Amino acid sequence: MTQDEMKQAVAQEALNYVVEGTIIGVGTGSTANFFIDALATIKDKIKGTVASSEATAQRLKSHGIKVFDLNEVTKISVYIDGADESDEGLNLIKGGGGALTREKIVAAVANEFICIADASKLVAVMGAFPLPVEVIPMSANYVTREITKRIGGTVTLRDFTTDNGNLILDVSDLKITHPKALETELNSIIGVVTNGLFANSPADVLLLGTPNGVRRVTA
Ligand code: A5P
Repeated sequence: MTQDEMKQAVAQEALNYVVEGTIIGVGTGSTANFFIDALATIKDKIKGTVASSEATAQRLKSHGIKVFDLNEVTKISVYIDGADESDEGLNLIKGGGGALTREKIVAAVANEFICIADASKLVAVMGAFPLPVEVIPMSANYVTREITKRIGGTVTLRDFTTDNGNLILDVSDLKITHPKALETELNSIIGVVTNGLFANSPADVLLLGTPNGVRRVTA
């Protein structure tokens, strides 16, 4: 089974978590794209979606799926999205695609977060994937110095502007043994919008695509 086939399998499995007649939160990335394509097959059964990025909104609309602005809705039944890394506690690193802040906002509104990923994303200790941190542009150098001083790691400015008009710092060379504390510490630095750790509010369910089929992991 290829990596794409594993992503497709979890995307298809995630349809079982879609609650009929409700609004679904939809994530960003290649695995989320497979989910959008699968969601299109049952689009008449849902009220609509909220997208975590402009790219996702475009793909949803191209399938004729209704996309609501988050300020138009009060309830999202389930949020479905990929991840860059997960540990067995369902703590995640997200933001490889740069959509971390909108992803975290939509996930916060949703009743349940179902993470979909291929088996390569599950690790014992996160940190091999550089941790994205979205920052207000004028604060980038200050935040870089503060991360280096307070946390360590190697900080690199990504050549990228987020949908929110901000910048991304990628922090590599970390061993994330205390993800909740690190998420909180990074968010306390002035200039940080948010970081890509989903640990204080981790996924509720991880659907992991393996060569032997979909494995359901819960914390
Ligand atoms: C987007 O900003 C990320 O949080 C994605 O969820 C993450 O990068 C996973 O992407 P893939 O499904 O393409 O691996």
